[in-house]
Amino acid sequence: MKILGMNGSPRGSRSQTLRLVRAVLDGARDAGAEVEFVDICKLDIGYCRGCLVCYERGECVRRDDFPGLYQKMLASDGIVLGSPNYINSVTAQIKTMLDRMGDAIHCQFFLGKYGCAVSTAGGSRADEVVDYLNDVLQTLGANTVGGVGVILGVTRRRSCLRRGGPTNSAGSLCVPSRIKRPTPNRRGTTPRCTTGCGP
Ligand SMILES: Cc1cc2nc3c(=O)[nH]c(=O)nc-3n(C[C@H](O)[C@H](O)[C@H](O)COP(=O)(O)O)c2cc1C
Repeated sequence: MKILGMNGSPRGSRSQTLRLVRAVLDGARDAGAEVEFVDICKLDIGYCRGCLVCYERGECVRRDDFPGLYQKMLASDGIVLGSPNYINSVTAQIKTMLDRMGDAIHCQFFLGKYGCAVSTAGGSRADEVVDYLNDVLQTLGANTVGGVGVILGVTRRRSCLRRGGPTNSAGSLCVPSRIKRPTPNRRGTTPRCTTGCGP
């Protein structure tokens, strides 16, 4: 059985998400699988142009690293997707790769494969990123077998304060003073900072 692990953090070997992807691959290897790791951010993968040619021909017109990666995915029995939480979602690199898979989604080319997603976040919503990635894998036809989201608890509060941000009173927002402070929205509630950079 072949398992392909992919990480979408741009931090290379310093990536914490990488550690999770590697842990899944190590477990699969111990169980007898052949494993391979790909750092998505080291590949040249361009944006989907929305030409829809892939729906007709089954292949993308763009000549970059995506077709090779896609062949690796198709040749695998299991796919591990990893992304840190970037603004409550996956990184741009992961999304750019997924957008190139429109045809694979329509044709459910991952039917019969296993899928698993992992994510890390500074302060919140790693599980939401895991859910999103597993949902994409299911949409591709894969059977998702689990996922791990880890909150690292890394805050940037001190740096926000240094640059004139709010003090750490309950409900304060982590927004530097040069940025217009958020005002209560139409429902009358002030948006809270959920990015992990706040107190
Ligand atoms: C541009 C950017 C956006 C981020 N957005 C969030 C966020 O919305 N919520 C959060 O909890 N952490 C956020 N983080 C923190 C990362 O999710 C966290 O540091 C993560 O563990 C990094 O993973 P990595 O070490 O694999 O790169 C953000 C970090 C960056 C650089």
